[in-house]
Amino acid sequence: MARARERVLSGMRPTGKLHLGNYLGALDNWVRMQDAYDCFYFVANWHALTDDHDTAAVPGDTIEMLADWLGAGLDPERSTLFVQSLVPEHAELHLLFSMITPVGWLERVPTYKERIEQQGITSPSYGLLGYPLLQSADILMYKPRWVPVGIDQVPHVELTREVARRFNHVFGEVFPEPDAKLTEIPKVPGTDGRKMSKSYDNAIYLSDPPEAIVRKVKPMVTDPARKRRADPGTPEVCPVFDLHKIFTPEAERRACAEGCRTAGIGCLDCKDVLLRHLGPRLDGIRERRQKYAEKPDRIVELLHEGSRRAQRVARATMDEVRAAVRLTP
Ligand code: TRP
Ligand code: SF4
Repeated sequence: MARARERVLSGMRPTGKLHLGNYLGALDNWVRMQDAYDCFYFVANWHALTDDHDTAAVPGDTIEMLADWLGAGLDPERSTLFVQSLVPEHAELHLLFSMITPVGWLERVPTYKERIEQQGITSPSYGLLGYPLLQSADILMYKPRWVPVGIDQVPHVELTREVARRFNHVFGEVFPEPDAKLTEIPKVPGTDGRKMSKSYDNAIYLSDPPEAIVRKVKPMVTDPARKRRADPGTPEVCPVFDLHKIFTPEAERRACAEGCRTAGIGCLDCKDVLLRHLGPRLDGIRERRQKYAEKPDRIVELLHEGSRRAQRVARATMDEVRAAVRLTP
């Protein structure tokens, strides 16, 4: 008999349409992991409430994000794709964890302090403080071996391991400790040269039609030393070249670098080469995601199906948890 595949769990907040940075930083990796692992991927919609209490956009954002997941190649037959709020067991586990977690552990989580400072939050909610603990419940519920995340989320996985240890110590062995699987994230600059981000308005989206991609790449920021066509440049400091490193095969990339340093080519020539490789890479994703986006009902159905599957696992875990906590006569 084939050995059971190791389990992987990860989640994303429902931010709507995904951009190249989201794709290269997480989604592409999720897709590839499907070949070797038993994958659980979910929409962290309760976590969205820590950002904004106006939920009007959340259902639509969930559907757009799912269209991108599916367009990029997540396969609902092979992976369990689900929604956090459709598996309310997460909330029960979070509550039990909250009883054994010192407030100090949560106050020390770097993302908590960062968000308070960056967003100027004067009166942080109980839920914001508990965010990483809810994430621990999201994770441990499925007893995954691996949690693929970016470097910013590693403290949350560390906390999760501590919570698992403490639970096992207090109530008895239920949770194995998962490990973060660091996604190697290439530098993905936006069109203005800063990190690609929805809030900077510098992003190329997986849903962008070919014309939009051309329209965004043509005026993209380059090495500021190349003011005129005859000025030589330095590819190492150019955001366009960062994208070449991701999308352009080596031989052509080298030719661009050489042409840049000797002023043999202009920036528009260089961007044309990039577009020739970036375009086709996005075509397949966009076409597939559009087909799904036109059938939002199918996406909703598929999320309910996945959530039922996830809930079966969650119920089995909660049976063990309740037996370990021993509250009910
Ligand atoms: N905190 C994660 C983020 O902001 C999202 C998330 C919630 C998550 N629960 C998770 C990621 C569980 C991995 C595992 O990106
Ligand atoms: Fe950047 Fe290419 Fe222009 Fe050089 S030629 S500055 S690498 S866009």
